[in-house]
Amino acid sequence: MTARPLLIVILAAGQGTRMKSVLPKVLHKVGGRSMLAHVLDVVQQLGADSPAVVIGPGMDAVRAAVSEQMPSARVFVQAEQKGTADALLAAREMLAAHSGDVLVLYADTPLLTTPTLKLLLERLNEGAQIAVLGFEAADPTGYGRLLTEDGGWLRAIREDKDASEEERRVQLCNSGVMAFRLDDLMGVLRRIGNANAKGEFYLTDAVEIARGDGARAAVVACGEDEVLGVNSRDQLSVAEAIFQSRARLAAMREGATLIAPETVWLSWDTRIGRDVVIEPNVFFGPGVTVEDGAEIKANCHVERARIGKGARVGPFARLRPGADLGEDVHVGNFVEVKNVTLGPGAKANHLSYLGDGAVGANANIGAGTIFCNYDGFQKHRTEVGAGAFVGSNTSLVAPVKIGEGAYIGSGSVITKDVAADALALERSPQEERPGWAAKFRAMMSRRKAKAG
Ligand code: UD1
Ligand code: MG
Repeated sequence: MTARPLLIVILAAGQGTRMKSVLPKVLHKVGGRSMLAHVLDVVQQLGADSPAVVIGPGMDAVRAAVSEQMPSARVFVQAEQKGTADALLAAREMLAAHSGDVLVLYADTPLLTTPTLKLLLERLNEGAQIAVLGFEAADPTGYGRLLTEDGGWLRAIREDKDASEEERRVQLCNSGVMAFRLDDLMGVLRRIGNANAKGEFYLTDAVEIARGDGARAAVVACGEDEVLGVNSRDQLSVAEAIFQSRARLAAMREGATLIAPETVWLSWDTRIGRDVVIEPNVFFGPGVTVEDGAEIKANCHVERARIGKGARVGPFARLRPGADLGEDVHVGNFVEVKNVTLGPGAKANHLSYLGDGAVGANANIGAGTIFCNYDGFQKHRTEVGAGAFVGSNTSLVAPVKIGEGAYIGSGSVITKDVAADALALERSPQEERPGWAAKFRAMMSRRKAKAG
């Protein structure tokens, strides 16, 4: 890494019209968080805490997202979309005050990795004043071409629309990521004109201008996947697919078994321990931790939840925000858990809704139990003590507390607290009429025979 101070400028002023969205492009999500957040994360990993982010007018949502994730970042507004060089100049106040290296990133390139950027910056320590991240494009259409000369140095970057037939045949393309170690970057930027096909001020022209001053520009190549730029929804889905295959691989490398990895959906922050087994079709939204040895059976949806050591979840379980499953907890099919802590060894194996409350260690929640947490206005808590046994088809009308070791008879509607070790029953007494069914059948058969 360079020891010189590093200023990172993130360009995010593009409208992203091709997304056809009210949401600014860079706030669209990959792996459960915005593309912008992915880029800010990389910035943080590079140890640059105060980047400049260039946004377009009226992009208040982007400004808010920046200050939430990285309050030390500074946001600049590019008044008009006049090209990438003009965008960089929007941060002129920071550029002018900075002496050191400058790294330019695009906020719509969410798959960049820190090691690649470190390699790029390294080139600035090795005799280059500009380093450009390039890639061999399967289809170079639309990209700027990297025109190199003997020795591999970069001669110029030619935008697709301005390129000659011969230049268009070059497959080495500009990712947009560029690093500068120029004494007078501002001076170079100011000399960039807009006499080109798009009438824009191209940052890429900095290469030819600086070269005219005697500077050298190097190319660092990376895989095309890493620099995928998202301009449309289909590219967003491609970025998502790449993100997912990376995340699945990482989980497996850390010791988890994914039986059908291509059907498991992870988020940027999903934490999966060792010897976890995940069956097909499981979706993890953000904020999930799965501890060692847990098993998640097929078709589960999990978000903002913890699955404790050795716990067993699913098939067909839904864990919503605040589901906190302790060690060896079992949550079975068609059970929904929201904002409930389940102590070690607790079980809710079938067809239940557990919302807002706590279940003590080793308690058993019978099939069809409902925590009636909502009265139409407010949410209330249900607490089930350790070792309690809640019979099937019980409604626990919150707020309500079931004491430790208590029994609840099946089919009860419990509205009052139950003491520890008590039995609570709430249902009509059972009535039995001996021989009634046989008489009823005989009568009905006679009636049917007469009518027939
Ligand atoms: C740019 C590069 C091209 C490269 C390609 C990679 C230039 C001139 N061209 O082209 O060499 O192959 O990216 O994807 O740089 N932006 C602003 N303000 C502006 C214009 C752009 O902030 O006035 C931002 C956009 O939000 C985006 C980035 O800069 O994040 C790139 O802009 P875009 O218009 O997509 O450039 P390309 O034509 O794709
Ligand atoms: Mg682009």
